[in-house]
Amino acid sequence: MKTVTCTAPVNIAVIKYWGKRDTQLILPTNDSLSVTLSQDILHSKTTISAAKEYSGDRLWLNGKEEDITKNKRMHNCFRETRAIRKAVEDKAAAAGQPIELLSTYPVHVCSENNFPTAAGLASSASGLAALVFTLAKLFDLPSDMSELSRIARQGSGSACRSLFGGFVAWEMGKEADGSDSKAVQVAPETHWPELEALVCVVSDAKKGTSSTEGMQNTIQTSPLMAERLKVVPGRMEAMKKAILAKDFESFGELTMRDSNQFHAVCLDTFPPIFYLNDTSRGIMRLIHEYNRSSPDGKIKAAYTYDAGPNAVIYAPKQNMREIIQLIAHYFPGTDSDYYFKDTYGVLGGAAL
Ligand code: PMV
Repeated sequence: MKTVTCTAPVNIAVIKYWGKRDTQLILPTNDSLSVTLSQDILHSKTTISAAKEYSGDRLWLNGKEEDITKNKRMHNCFRETRAIRKAVEDKAAAAGQPIELLSTYPVHVCSENNFPTAAGLASSASGLAALVFTLAKLFDLPSDMSELSRIARQGSGSACRSLFGGFVAWEMGKEADGSDSKAVQVAPETHWPELEALVCVVSDAKKGTSSTEGMQNTIQTSPLMAERLKVVPGRMEAMKKAILAKDFESFGELTMRDSNQFHAVCLDTFPPIFYLNDTSRGIMRLIHEYNRSSPDGKIKAAYTYDAGPNAVIYAPKQNMREIIQLIAHYFPGTDSDYYFKDTYGVLGGAAL
């Protein structure tokens, strides 16, 4: 029996992934780019043990056992990591070296998120990244993160970006087999220490439309989506440039525009998908007002929203105090259905 525990962080996209060209292999219709948040507060922690005696693969999520018999995405991750391990075992056997046949053992997976699950806070990204990273450590696989990201992608698309810290692009790739659809680090977590993220938990309820269902409905019904696909390549280049130059003005505007366009294609989906609520829109207005009040006219903060109402606000560190005070002032009290959390720095990717 062998047991390993790892954690993986959440990543929040500033150029959103929305739409698959291959739903089996999870190949996206556009490149995307995200910022990996600190592991300290938002993370998935996963323990996996492999033992000959186990009767089958099992999963406990946040303390409750889940039926994984129909969970194809999890099985994709088991299959892919076991195949690489098996090749290592075969090689060792051929060379006459002893090796434990871990690839043949069933596994027990215990995973917990220290934040609301499936509420649009990227729990699938950190969860599936933690699963693949822990399996890789359990099976002693070579830890080429881009290689592992191709496997994590088949668990949950956005999970591929959580294997790296810092600023991470998911290159959509061209190949039909997905061999070039992987995550790459644009800049490490040490690159832009002045940039911080504030997570405003507007609601911790589970989202109504899953991203899997939502994005396919968008692809099938939204004429606006074709326009989005023309815009994203230029945005990706501009975003990489902004990050490398630590140009918050461009980073912030691109981030807000991309979030707005993503929610516009959700509204253009038929029937429409609503992820934002009145509080989310209130926070958007507040950030625009805050930026309008900037003495030099420069953007001081940028919001972005995933498939849920919760806001993530990116801003230079020196503005964060003011932003937290503003949010606390305009969205006060614990009686309402929102509260906000502390600031998180930008830190590393999956860790042992
Ligand atoms: O990886 P999924 O299937 O949970 O999709 C995530 C999609 C968004 O969070 C809305 C955008 C993104 O790029 O993370």
